[in-house]
Amino acid sequence: AARPRVLSGIQPTADSFHLGNYLGAVRYWVTLQDTHDAFYCVVDLHAITAGHDPRVLRRRTRIAAAQLLAVGLDPERCTLFVQSQVPEHPQLAWVLSCLTGFGEASRMTQFKDKSTRQGADRASVGLFTYPILQAADILLYQADAVPVGEDQRQHLELTRDLAQRFNGLFGRTFTVPAPHIVKDTAKITDLQDPTAKMSKSASSPAGIIDLLEDPARSAKKIRSAVTDTGREIIFDQANKPGIANLLTIYSALADRTVDDLVETYAGKGYGDLKKDLAEVVREFVGPVQERTRTYLDDPAQLDKLLTIGAEKARAVAAATLRTTYDRVGF
Ligand code: ADP
Ligand code: NA
Repeated sequence: AARPRVLSGIQPTADSFHLGNYLGAVRYWVTLQDTHDAFYCVVDLHAITAGHDPRVLRRRTRIAAAQLLAVGLDPERCTLFVQSQVPEHPQLAWVLSCLTGFGEASRMTQFKDKSTRQGADRASVGLFTYPILQAADILLYQADAVPVGEDQRQHLELTRDLAQRFNGLFGRTFTVPAPHIVKDTAKITDLQDPTAKMSKSASSPAGIIDLLEDPARSAKKIRSAVTDTGREIIFDQANKPGIANLLTIYSALADRTVDDLVETYAGKGYGDLKKDLAEVVREFVGPVQERTRTYLDDPAQLDKLLTIGAEKARAVAAATLRTTYDRVGF
């Protein structure tokens, strides 16, 4: 039987992914390559909804692709592409936008949050219709499943509604995708505010560990990570969120259970844990940074990989769009 298909995307909105992006999302993309027919895209169309610099966007798109390859996406085992190289995405998004109610789109909490922050007059229509483009990203590939974090659940619900609505109106065209909830997905928190998530948009630099930053800098941030005044190293998210976060990162990167770590650090201090974690981070990011650099140092090869990825993606996307247009009456 054919493997179930998954699709996931990530925005090129920073010069590096941070540990939250990797441990909360991209790490699972790597494992899904072996069990699924996986499509992954760098969603650059989504990255211009709040103003941008073209040169910065181009650079970040390449860095994002290089980093995805560096952490283990393998173009032989998945389809990795850049969204803007597949014009069917905005083409399908238009059709879907005509099936989306204005009120329905207005209820998207991420838009409400972001537009409130930006101010109603500054928020773009692109930010408003973003979830519809995201629906097109998914439906074009007839994805069976979409790996999502809690923050994307509402958007996936809209995608499912739009697929069902289109199918009901025009005949069965789209696979209705299910959320692919990865068990115990790591939620990484801000090192300076361990009750908030590590986020490139909301965290201060001291609260974030970027995969591409100097590990000495990461070590310093880990040393200064906010903990509590206690001494005991136990996993208690409610009362010791800072220590819980450090243990979560450690456990994921060193591939050791939290219980094992708690046992190892019984009777030791926060300083020991932080020192060792800094070393674990260094050992992890070292090879990732080297491979990222190798990809970035050979732009022709990187472009070639992405062109091949876009061609593979387009073969699927164009077939879906053709059927869609036909059903719509174009
Ligand atoms: P950011 O919140 O830093 O802007 P994005 O929203 O671009 O990051 O998220 C990209 C992916 O990384 C999403 O799948 C999201 O769920 C995941 N992610 C982001 N931050 C974290 C975090 N702190 N912990 C776990 N997963 C995260
Ligand atoms: Na975000």
